[in-house]
Amino acid sequence: MSDVDLDVHHSTEDVTEALREDVREGLSAAQKWLPSKWFYDARGSELFEQITALPEYYPTRAEREVLAREAGQIAAVTGARTLVELGSGSSEKTRLLLDALGDAGALEAFVPLDVSASALAEAAEAIAGDYPGLAVHGVVGDFTEHLGLLPGERPRLVVFLGGTIGNLAPLERAKFLRSVRDVLSEGEWLLLGTDLVKDPDTLVRAYDDAAGVTAAFNRNVLHVLNQRLGADFDPEAFEHESYWDSGNEWIEMRLRAREAATVRIPGAGMEVSFAAGEHVRTEISAKFRPEGVRDELADAGFALKRWWTDAEGRFGVSLSRAQTGAEPRP
Ligand code: AVJ
Repeated sequence: MSDVDLDVHHSTEDVTEALREDVREGLSAAQKWLPSKWFYDARGSELFEQITALPEYYPTRAEREVLAREAGQIAAVTGARTLVELGSGSSEKTRLLLDALGDAGALEAFVPLDVSASALAEAAEAIAGDYPGLAVHGVVGDFTEHLGLLPGERPRLVVFLGGTIGNLAPLERAKFLRSVRDVLSEGEWLLLGTDLVKDPDTLVRAYDDAAGVTAAFNRNVLHVLNQRLGADFDPEAFEHESYWDSGNEWIEMRLRAREAATVRIPGAGMEVSFAAGEHVRTEISAKFRPEGVRDELADAGFALKRWWTDAEGRFGVSLSRAQTGAEPRP
């Protein structure tokens, strides 16, 4: 018998209410935007899985290269008894860590946290089936809100991979790192994946692949609004765009209206007009510099202990320790 249980921190009604509020705020703004977490319904999660295999989308492979090489180190340095994975998505990289932590002998529990109940249940069952003796405790929730309740014996290793921290705006990022630090005790661990600043061409192409998978992923947010809020977007009336913002050092994904249009969104009680050529920002994906990662971690109360990149230096993985001495800088 597999050892899995699931905690659900939000209902379908909560989710729809949160979407409604985001849509009301983002689509009534002078510069329209939508939070990127709304890409990930079942279809969006499937499209994201396809993105990770695209030739242009290097981050997944670069991060996997680091984890395959350093998993043993990570297990030896942390001696973790619990592995907590935030935004757990695909479990392949997780397995590299579970294998190494299992070999090191201290691992007892795996705690995946994800907004998608279906993705989480599937991943939790698969892991529990393949790792007999490992307690799997899934938490369905938003990693920016439901961190207060992390179970598991200490020391815990919290992992946040894929560069997903780059999808948060700088202030949200600081708040998020603080909230992770707040649930940990001194001496517990954070493993963080961060995509790195590099030539704009490589970056732009990683978010605008030749096969058009990222374009479909981007438009999927409009399908989500149609389904959940009864909106009447024509997703094909919007052009996918990948834009490098060199001042902020982030990629923006945008959907640009090909022609003027008015869209009804009954579930949000609104009608939204688009001018021809007007865009909605659907995602930011920040790219980092090593010293920036170290400073942001220090500001949140983490001391950087290890820093690795793939051989081509495209993607960084940091291992840091919750520290009480590491006070936030003024
Ligand atoms: C969610 C951080 C892994 O920002 O690179 C991929 C999402 N968006 N292609 C990223 C994404 C467009 C991705 N992560």
